[in-house]
Order: sequence, then C-alpha cells, then structure tokens
Amino acid sequence: MITNVIFYGVSTWVKNNYEEINQKYSPVAFVDGNLQKQGTKLFETPIISLEQALEKHPDASYYISVQTPAFVEQIFNMLVEKGIPQDKIAYPDEIQISNSLKKCKSCRSIEHSIIWMANTLVEQEHDCLQFCCGVEGYPSPDIAIKGDDIQTAILQLEKLRENILQDIDSSSCKSCPSLTEMYYPKKRTVTSLGIVQDDICNFQCCYCERTSTNTTSDQKVDSAKRSIRFIEKLEEIGIISPDHTSILISGASEISISKSRDIMLDAIKHYPVILPTNATVFSDKIADLSKNPNSRIIVSMDSGTKQTFAKVKGVDAFEKVCGNLKSYFHANASLVLKYIVLPGVNDNMKDVDGFLDICSEIEVRHIEIVRNFWGKEEFSENTISVIRYMLTQLKERNINVDCSELKLGAILEPELEVVT
Ligand SMILES: C[S@@+](CC[C@H](N)C(=O)[O-])C[C@H]1O[C@@H](n2cnc3c(N)ncnc32)[C@H](O)[C@@H]1O
Ligand code: SF4
Repeated sequence: MITNVIFYGVSTWVKNNYEEINQKYSPVAFVDGNLQKQGTKLFETPIISLEQALEKHPDASYYISVQTPAFVEQIFNMLVEKGIPQDKIAYPDEIQISNSLKKCKSCRSIEHSIIWMANTLVEQEHDCLQFCCGVEGYPSPDIAIKGDDIQTAILQLEKLRENILQDIDSSSCKSCPSLTEMYYPKKRTVTSLGIVQDDICNFQCCYCERTSTNTTSDQKVDSAKRSIRFIEKLEEIGIISPDHTSILISGASEISISKSRDIMLDAIKHYPVILPTNATVFSDKIADLSKNPNSRIIVSMDSGTKQTFAKVKGVDAFEKVCGNLKSYFHANASLVLKYIVLPGVNDNMKDVDGFLDICSEIEVRHIEIVRNFWGKEEFSENTISVIRYMLTQLKERNINVDCSELKLGAILEPELEVVT
C-alpha cells in the first residue's frame, strides 16, 4: 500500500473504481479544480485545491484519478511544472502516457487553446484565430478566417503551430514568459476555446478596452452569429467536445444584453463554460449554464459602494447588479466575484467592507483579486495593506481567493494567499 498520496481528480471513474485503486494507493486528499467540490469530502477524504495540496503535503505522491487521456496528460504536465518528480506521479494502468508525450519548449496556449477573435477587435477585415490573446504584450500570431472557410483556417493554424514549435527561439513567441520546456502531448487536444466577441455593452468600465473604442456598428453585433458557426464547425470536425473542452465567452461586449444571447447560450449549453457578465440582466439560461460542475459565472464588482461602482463602471447600477447577484444565488448558480484593484479608486476600507458584505450575503465561495492589466504602477503601502485586510477577512469567512495575478507573493504573507 502506497500512503501519503494525493488523488488528482474527483471523477465518476474514481468513484466507481475507488475500492480497487484504494488497495494500492491510500489518499490523504483529493485535488480537484472544480470550485464547488473544494472544501467538501469524498470517501471521508478532504477535497482541496492543488495549491493547498502542495502547501499541506509537500512530500506527497500523486495519483491522477481520471480516465480521459487528454486530461491525464494535462494534469501530468501541470504537476511536473509544479516541480513534482515524474516518478512520484502515477495514473491509470491502461493509459500510455510516456508514448504520447514529447519534451519541448512550448506553452499551454499553443498546446491546448484556440481563441476566436471578432474582426473589428483586431481591426482586420476577417475574424481571426489565435493561440492566446497576448495581453501581456506578446502578440499572438494569427490566422484570418476568409469567408466561411473555417476548415482551411484551422489547418493553417495547425501549420502555424508546427512552424512555431520547429524553431520557437526565432518565432514571434520567442520572448514570451509563458514558454516552458517540459512534457507536452504529441497530439494537440483543444481543452480551451476562447470566443472574443465584439458586441454591445451598456457599461463603460474605466479599465475596459471597449470604453476607448467606437462600438456600435451592425458588423460588430453580427460577430456572435459568426462565432456560433465557428463553434458548430469545430464540433462537427471533432476538434472540440464537451468531454474535453471548456469555453470562455469574453470580449468587449456584454452577453446578457446581446441580441444573440440565447442562440449563443444554446450553442454552448453542453460545455463547461466560463462566462463573465456585468450582471445588469439576470438570465435563467446563464444561471442554468453555470450549473455544469466545471462552469462558472464571473462578475467583476470592483467596488462595494454605489458611488465607487458608478465611478468604475460608468453607470449607476450598483443596486440592480446586487439584486441580480442575489437572484443568481437563489437560482443556485455557480458565481465567482472579481475585484480589480484600482489604486485611488477602490483601495479603501469602505469599498472593501461593502464588497465583503455582498460576498457574505450571496454566500459566494470564490473570489479573484487582480490588477488592471493596463495599469503599470507599483502598489503603494496603503493599497497593499487594504489588500491584506481583504484577504484576512475573506479567510475568516472561509472564502477561497485567487490573488496569484497580483504577483505580490510573499509581500502578502504566503499563508494568506489561498489560491484555488
Ligand atoms: C472584457 S469583460 C467582458 C464581459 C463582461 N462584459 C464583463 O464585464 O464581465 C470580461 C472581464 O475582463 C476583465 N477585464 C477587462 N478589462 C480588464 C483590465 N484592464 N484589467 C483586468 N481585468 C479586466 C473584467 O473583469 C471583465 O469583467
Ligand atoms: S461591462 Fe464588460 S465589456 Fe462592458 S465596459 Fe465593462 S468590462 Fe467592458
């Protein structure tokens, strides 16, 4: 019997095969990325996040307790990337992981993601495909989708990927910090599909790219229809599937007020979905979609008072949004709240206390605290102490926080940084 093992993955497969696996491996914890499962138990064993496992059980071995080869490979890579030695990672016997992996310099986006971008956002004639959205200043190379010829664009994207990987150090990705030399699957599986729309929005958030652009032509509104055709085509040719792909709907637009909202939500209803919304409109369909165990709605509140909300979002809709958050809570939707730290605007106790009250009222269990990705300035001592206060309060309320994007590490005291 091998003890001090973390089982990675709370899958139906492990539930059905637990007795047999348990004869060889005895778990101290399960790890699962599903926020709703974290904090609960399976077979009397706690389910925690990977970061908690690494912190609480630094010497543990890992057993990847899922059966889909693409996920086993992805988890295997993630564990190796986190510094777990390969000989401490086991997985179901029937999976031949070593035959399907290759060691090379690449990144998760090149290996696992496709992003569809509306033409008007990239100021091009055609919609295009990318591997990542390059927000950190490393623009992703792209492929134009000419007319309706999605299949040719996909083949060109795969060719582009091969070319990049053949000589990554001379490619346009060469300086990107996401590049890592490690084990990647030989066969590319698209586990993440990003749809970056250009459609209407009723807000004018101070940090949003959209606020500085003109946004109302019919061509922009049409982008939803074209992206739905794209999703359907990818499904038809077998590149995406609800078994291995999750879909993120984003862009300079607000899905809840889009004319194409319902057809878009119907097109993705079988998939795990990550759906940012400003929550000015409550939608039953959005609530239902978030009930897939791996789906979530993300609402960026960025404030805790009516005044700051109006300042950040450009619209006086604090009460309306709070009311809709309550409706999502009552509809059992999976909600994550977000706080973009905006120095001089929302880094004060009044907003943080108001935000904490909202979190408690709708019993939200997961929060993301991030930087404005256009704001380059260092945080002041005051901003950092307000973030510290927020983290302490969230910890007291037993709410998980992902603040890894703040990149403040030890400054925030590692014990406060509970990353999901
Ligand atoms: C671009 S919006 C689109 C979806 C929706 N309208 C919304 O606001 O959630 C998606 C999310 O991206 C995040 N975002 C946009 N601009 C950002 C920025 N400059 N810095 C950090 N996050 C940003 C916000 O959290 C926003 O809610
Ligand atoms: S609600 Fe979303 S799309 Fe609209 S301005 Fe704000 S961040 Fe941008």
